[in-house]
Amino acid sequence: MYIKIAVCPGSFDPITNGHLDIIYRASKLFDKVVVLILNNPQKKPMFSVEQRLDWINSSIKPLNNVSVDYWSGLLIDYIKKNSACSIVKGIRSFQDFDYELQMSTVNKLLEPSAETIFLPADPDKTHITSTLVKDLCRIGGNIDNLVPKAILKDVKKVLEEVNK
Ligand code: PNS
Repeated sequence: MYIKIAVCPGSFDPITNGHLDIIYRASKLFDKVVVLILNNPQKKPMFSVEQRLDWINSSIKPLNNVSVDYWSGLLIDYIKKNSACSIVKGIRSFQDFDYELQMSTVNKLLEPSAETIFLPADPDKTHITSTLVKDLCRIGGNIDNLVPKAILKDVKKVLEEVNK
C-alpha cells in the first residue's frame, strides 16, 4: 500500500500553538506526518535539538500518525530518503509567503516530485512566533496562549533559567 508521508519542517525554537495547529491539520490530510527539526542558517537557536525534540514529542502525543525527527542536512534529502511526498508549511503573512515560496521553488527544482502545501494560519494564531514567545518571557509577559499546554510549565521554567 502507498502511504502518503508529509514533513512539517522548521526550527521549532520552541514549538508554538501556531506550529501545533498546522501539525494537527496536516495529520488529517496525510497518512503520516513527520515534524522535522532542521537548521535554519539565518537563525541561531536558543534551545538544544534534544530540548526541542522533547517539547515536540510531548506536544504531539495525542496524534498517533505524527512523529518527530532531526536532520542536519537539506530538507529535500530527508524527503527523498524517507519517501515523503509533501512538505507542509503554515503561512501567517505576505512575508511568510514570499520566503516560503522561494524555499518551495528551490525544493521543487531539487526534487520535482515533492509538493509543498501551504496552509493558511488559523486567524487566532497569525501573531504567534517562536521569537515572540522568547521575547515576551524575557520581559515577564504572558505566554499561556502561545505554547502547547503540555509543555507550558517546562518552557517557562527553562526560559526563566536562560534569562537569569
Ligand atoms: O521555522 P523556520 O526557521 O522558518 O524553518 C526554516 C527551515 C529550517 C525549514 C529552512 O531553513 C530549511 O529548510 N533548512 C534546511 C536546509 C534546506 O533544505 N534549505 C533549503 C534549500 S537552500
